[in-house]
Amino acid sequence: MLVTRQKLLRRFWYPVMPMSMLQDGPKPFTLLGEKIVLFLGADARPVALSDRCCHRTAQLSKGYCEGGNIVCGYHGWTYDATGKCVRIPQNTEAAIPANARVPSFHCDVRYGYAWVALEDPVQPIFELAEANDPGYRQIDQFYEVWNCAGLRLMENSFDMAHLSFVHKGTFGPKSHVPRKMTIEGTDIGLESYVETPVANPAIARNVVGSDEEETIRVMRGTWFMPFSRRLAISYPSGLKHTIITNATPIDDHSSMVVQWCYRSDTEADVPAAEIIAFDRAVTNEDKFILESTDADACIDTTRRVEFHMDSDKPGLIMRERLLSLLRQHGEEEVHG
Ligand code: FES
Ligand SMILES: [Fe+2]
Repeated sequence: MLVTRQKLLRRFWYPVMPMSMLQDGPKPFTLLGEKIVLFLGADARPVALSDRCCHRTAQLSKGYCEGGNIVCGYHGWTYDATGKCVRIPQNTEAAIPANARVPSFHCDVRYGYAWVALEDPVQPIFELAEANDPGYRQIDQFYEVWNCAGLRLMENSFDMAHLSFVHKGTFGPKSHVPRKMTIEGTDIGLESYVETPVANPAIARNVVGSDEEETIRVMRGTWFMPFSRRLAISYPSGLKHTIITNATPIDDHSSMVVQWCYRSDTEADVPAAEIIAFDRAVTNEDKFILESTDADACIDTTRRVEFHMDSDKPGLIMRERLLSLLRQHGEEEVHG
């Protein structure tokens, strides 16, 4: 599935940028091939407009913010949060033409990020219990482009078969199959439960709260279709570490990986930098292999040579859920 060919994917919320990046002016982002500009509106809430001035097509993201509006850097045409042109500096006599406007998109703020839906969203932004629980702290981890398709990254998130290979440099278990695993499709995606022994190298020991050579991970995974995943990990030490990974689709071949985590400990227990360093090492292992995969993640397994085994249950469920979601909205997979 090439993501820009599926119209339905324009109707989901995606985290596109940390709010901190908007403090010093407008910023560009490409979402599903659509070039948008993000900026802070009058109430300091994020706004998303098409990144193309309707005067002579300059990128609005090269302009600046003024009183909650965005000013084009070319001739100063000014747009409000709805995309309506409210000022043409050189046009002192005539009224502003009614069609002088740029398209606007749904935009909201949640978990410290600006979220965008290009068309009317089919469901709200997912809720995260940890975000309102004073027993957890949030650590912002990664905001970076991966040259890989979002569905590949999501499939990998639930694929336990890769741990002993891809992660042999960090936490990879000796066994190729987890001690226990259950998985089932849900209305919003899927839920998984996994118990597995994992290696516990020096870089991980403070982070997981154990000095043993091995420890046990209990992982509860949730896939929020189409490109978000919550992975709640708990360790025998009682420590809880929940990772939120989003593969926000830039285009058919690349994704913005937006990842933060929640921890049940404090900065005094384990510094955020140490947690980020361990997750960085793990994430780099995934990135290395995922960037070698074909972007056209194969949903219809009859159309291409790509094998899906019984042991690839997460991938099979994801395919079934996605096809069902498309059908529910009157769409079919558009083949690449
Ligand atoms: S191109 Fe934007 S004001 Fe002229
Ligand atoms: Fe992995």
